[in-house]
Amino acid sequence: MCGIVAKVSSENVLPFLIEGLKRLEYRGYDSAGVAVLQNGKIVVTKQKGKVNELEKLLDENPIGGNVGIGHTRWATHGKPDNINAHPHMCNDQSLALVHNGIIENYQALKDILIEKGYTFLGQTDTEVLVNFIDFIKKSEKLNTLEAVKLALKEAVGAYAIVLFDKDIPDSLIAARKSSPMVLGIGIDALYIASDVTPIVKYTNKIIYLNDEEVVVANKNAEYSISNLKNQAITPIIQEIEVKIEALEKGGYDHFMLKEIFQQPSTITDSMRGRINTDENWVHLNGVEDNLSRFLKAKRIIIVGCGTSWHSGLIGEYMIEDLARIPVEVEYASEFRYRNPIISEKDIVIAISQSGETADTVAALELAKEKGAFLYGVVNVVGSSIARLVHSGSYIHAGPEIGVASTKAFTSQIVILLLIALRLGKAKGTIDERKYIELISALESVPSKVQTILENIDQIKYIASEIKDHNNAIYLGRGISFPVALEGALKLKEISYIHAEGYPAAEMKHGPIALIDEDMPVFVIATNERAYEKIISNVQEVKARKGKVIAIVPFGEKIISKIADHCIFIPEIEDEISPLLSVIPLQLLSYYVSVMRGCDVDQPRNLAKSVTVE
Ligand code: AGP
Repeated sequence: MCGIVAKVSSENVLPFLIEGLKRLEYRGYDSAGVAVLQNGKIVVTKQKGKVNELEKLLDENPIGGNVGIGHTRWATHGKPDNINAHPHMCNDQSLALVHNGIIENYQALKDILIEKGYTFLGQTDTEVLVNFIDFIKKSEKLNTLEAVKLALKEAVGAYAIVLFDKDIPDSLIAARKSSPMVLGIGIDALYIASDVTPIVKYTNKIIYLNDEEVVVANKNAEYSISNLKNQAITPIIQEIEVKIEALEKGGYDHFMLKEIFQQPSTITDSMRGRINTDENWVHLNGVEDNLSRFLKAKRIIIVGCGTSWHSGLIGEYMIEDLARIPVEVEYASEFRYRNPIISEKDIVIAISQSGETADTVAALELAKEKGAFLYGVVNVVGSSIARLVHSGSYIHAGPEIGVASTKAFTSQIVILLLIALRLGKAKGTIDERKYIELISALESVPSKVQTILENIDQIKYIASEIKDHNNAIYLGRGISFPVALEGALKLKEISYIHAEGYPAAEMKHGPIALIDEDMPVFVIATNERAYEKIISNVQEVKARKGKVIAIVPFGEKIISKIADHCIFIPEIEDEISPLLSVIPLQLLSYYVSVMRGCDVDQPRNLAKSVTVE
C-alpha cells in the first residue's frame, strides 16, 4: 500500500522525508516522491522506482524546506510512472498533496474540473483531489482548511491525505477516512505518517487519527484537530513502545529471515501472562471480560485475509475440537459483500496483523451494524481494527516488516489456541488431563521452534532442489491442511512459483492429474490423527513419480522411507503441530526466493497492508 510521511518544523525536513520513506518501503510500492516549500515555492521531486533512486536524484538536485511531504506509491489508478507518482500539485502549483486510498468518484469530479478549465498531467484520483480542493477554495472563497473539509465531504471512498499550501508556509493539513494516519508529537516538530515506523525514532507520543478527522500542524509543534462537521476534537495521546531496533534488520539479510528467527521469542511473548503450567490456567483478558457472551454464542465467525485467513482456519479446528462451538471462517472480502446472516448472538473474530486490511475492517463494520460482538486478534497496537472491536487480544509479535507474514501467523495461532482452551475449560468440553497436556505442550513450543531453526541445512538443500520448478503442491490433513495453504502462499508470494495447498484426501478428486516427476509435493505429516491416511496419500503421489518432500516428526519410520526428502521436526500434540510444521515451510520459501533472486521483503505487486479494496 502507499506510504505517507510529512514533517513541519523550523529545520529542513527533507532528511526526515527520505528516511521516513525508507521505513515505509516494506508496505510495497512502485514509485516515490517528495515535495517541500522552498523560498515560497513548492518544489516536487518524484519518479518511478525505489527510494534510493529518488535519493540519488535529490543528491544531484538538492531541495529543502521546513514543511514537506513524501510518498511511496502502490498504483491503483494510473500506471507506475514519473507523472502518476505523488506528490501532486494543483494547476497553479499553490497546493501539494499525497494520498493513500481510493477516491471512487474521481472521474465525476474530474469531469467537473475539466469543464472549469483544469488540466491533468496523469491518470490518478489524487491529482483530481488536489485540484478539487483548489477549485473549492477559489470558487467558494474559502481558506484552505475549509476547502479541504468541503472537498472531502464530496469525495467518496478512502483517503489518508497530507497537503500544504504555499501561502500558509509553516503548516500541514492532514485527514483520513478508512486509511490509517498517525500524528507524532515531537519537541520542536510534528510528524505525520501512515504508521508509526517513520516516527518512533523521534517521538513515542502518537495520536491515531480517526475517520473524518482533520489535523492542522504548524512549525511550533502546535496542532488542532477537528472533524468534517467543524467540531473540535480532543485527541488521545498514546505513548507507544515500538523500539527503533525492531525496525532494523539486526544483522539478518532480510526482515523476513529476522522475523522467522524471532519466533521462539515472539511465541513466548504471545503467551506471556496468559498461561501458567504450575497452576494450569489460561487467561486472556478479552475473553475473561466477555466469557458469558462467548459461552452463550451460537456461532463464532472468523474473518481475515491471506495468512490471517489461514490462521483462522486453524482456529476453527481448535475451537470446534476443544470447545465445541460452531465456527465458520470467511474471507473478509467475500463476507462483506455476500449479504451474510449475522445476529447479535454471533461473535465475529477479526484476525489481522496490520489491523488495517480494508476488507477485514469493512467486514467488521458490517458485523457491528448487525449487532454482533466483535473480537480482534491483532498485532499493531492502536490500529483501525484494534479500535473498532468491542474487545480483543494483541498478539505481541512486534512490528512485522517483511511482506510475507511469518511471526504474526504463529502468534495468531497461539491466541486462537488459548481461546479454544479457555472456552473448552469453561464449558467442560475438554478433560483436565488433556487441558494440562496442551498447556504444557504449548509452553514447550518456543524451544522446539528453536530446534528447527538450528537445523536448516536440509531445508536449504531442498530449496536448491525445487528453486527451478514452476509449480508445487502442498498437502495436509486435518489441522495440517491450513498449514499446507500457508506454505503454498509463502512460496508463491515471495518466489513467484505457482503453488497450491490441498487437503491430502482431495488429490484423488482432480489435482492428482497434475502429479508427475516435475511436480514437487510437500506433505505435512505431523499430525497423528490422520497418519495412516497420509501414508496412502504419499504412496499415491509416489506411484505417479511425484517428488515428495515430507515434514515428519523425529523418529518417523514409514513416510520418511518413501519420501524423496524429509524434514524432521520435534514431536508435539496435533492441536499444536501447526506452530512447528509451518516453520520449515517459511524457511523453505525464504531460501527459494533468495536463490531465485527475488525481492524477499518487498515482493513484486504486493503490499504489507492492503488498505484499499
Ligand atoms: C501474507 O504473507 C500476506 N502478506 C497477506 O496475505 C496478509 O496475510 C494479508 O494481506 C492480511 O494482512 P493482515 O493480517 O495485516 O490483515
